[in-house]
Amino acid sequence: MLERGMHGQWNSNLTFLLTATGSAIGLGNIWKFPYITGEYGGSAFVLMYLVCIALVGLPIMVAETLLGRRGRLSPINGLRHVALESGRSARWQAVGYLGVMTGLLILSFYTVIAGWAMRYVWTTLSGAFSGQSAQQVGEHFNQLLQNPGAMVFWHSVFSVMTAGVVMAGVTKGLALVSRWMMPFLFAALLLLLIYAAWAGDFARGFAFMFHFEPEKLTAKAVLAALGHSFFTLSLGMGAIMAYGAYMPAQAPIGKTIVWVASLDTLVALVVGLAIFPIVFAVGIAPNSGPGLLFVSLPVAFGAMPLGALVGSLFFMLVAVAAWSSAVSIIEPGVAWLVESGRFSRFSATLALALSAWALGLLTVLSFNHLADFKPAWLLHRTFFDFFDLLTAQVLLPLGGVLMCVLVGWLMQKRVLLDELEGDASRWFPLWRFLVRFVSPLLVIWVMSATLMESLGK
Ligand code: PFF
Repeated sequence: MLERGMHGQWNSNLTFLLTATGSAIGLGNIWKFPYITGEYGGSAFVLMYLVCIALVGLPIMVAETLLGRRGRLSPINGLRHVALESGRSARWQAVGYLGVMTGLLILSFYTVIAGWAMRYVWTTLSGAFSGQSAQQVGEHFNQLLQNPGAMVFWHSVFSVMTAGVVMAGVTKGLALVSRWMMPFLFAALLLLLIYAAWAGDFARGFAFMFHFEPEKLTAKAVLAALGHSFFTLSLGMGAIMAYGAYMPAQAPIGKTIVWVASLDTLVALVVGLAIFPIVFAVGIAPNSGPGLLFVSLPVAFGAMPLGALVGSLFFMLVAVAAWSSAVSIIEPGVAWLVESGRFSRFSATLALALSAWALGLLTVLSFNHLADFKPAWLLHRTFFDFFDLLTAQVLLPLGGVLMCVLVGWLMQKRVLLDELEGDASRWFPLWRFLVRFVSPLLVIWVMSATLMESLGK
């Protein structure tokens, strides 16, 4: 018999707030949001992203946290408990298995990109970017991509750091990391924003993000925005569920989640507003792809006073933000292996982190030796692009829809009210309506529209 709550509990609701925000804010906000905004043409994408956060992300985040706290176990066993409690099939735990697999795929490339940020801590500090043009900085980044050895090294360092925290048990030190990192990250972003407003082409950057041009909307952009709303809020794979399992019983889920989602969105928008003015001022193409962060900001760091120090600190904060997210990506699987009774926390983490690390080598090679390997079975993409597409645009939304069905249609209303009582009773009918109808139907509609569009081509 599994003992519910066996992995410990956060010591307060603030700790949940901090760690959930730590999970949400990461490479998704700082690295991915600007480059996909650039790829999908700016404002239309940003608007869709905001709509998806409000109508899909927020309601599902509340649902996922609720599932976690009700289950009080790893997502796999917690889902089983929750389903049985409402007289449903234990097979609902399959959603948890799906999540663990999705997590492995995400972690495999997440650690590689976080490795780039770690490498840039040193590169920036060494003054390598001082006075460099956009072209020279771009050259520098390409050199890193052509150097699989360096990429594997930093990928490994980051993987070890992540595994270290998870082995120690996330309810212990993680909140401390988030508590210290968050204010510094916000301050650094604000500083960058001010610099971008002063030295960059702010008007153009702002218009690019917020001057809405409906004709730029494509089904693909909408799906990308939808997928990103899952990725950036850590939804659909059990990460938030695993953290919800450690949430104190009285903590208000609704209020807390609104905070987490708002902070996450704010950070993404500020990052965009800091990057695009620089992108336009120095003549970088906004659709430069995954390197956008690494080719735009170093130009600014190279030009500003004390830039080497500021830039290096900035990349350090990016790495720490990625760290607190990476921990949450692997936690559901680790908690589940520990519950099986056959693994210690140490061996469970080792097994999962090593698997993700090995899979990550395919992402490393996607930027060099395997850059042209785009077979039909990877949908004509590199391994990295394929993993990214499969997780953000298929697996996370799929997990989210299944959670909506469970929470919105199959769980007893009494149980939902029991968990949301107090803080969200006024919003309960609206939230339930969103979880039953709006969020799942939107996801299904957007996914099928994209499928039809690609089949039609
Ligand atoms: N939300 C994280 C980010 O924006 O970087 C990434 C992430 C964490 C995705 C946890 C999924 C997850 F379960």
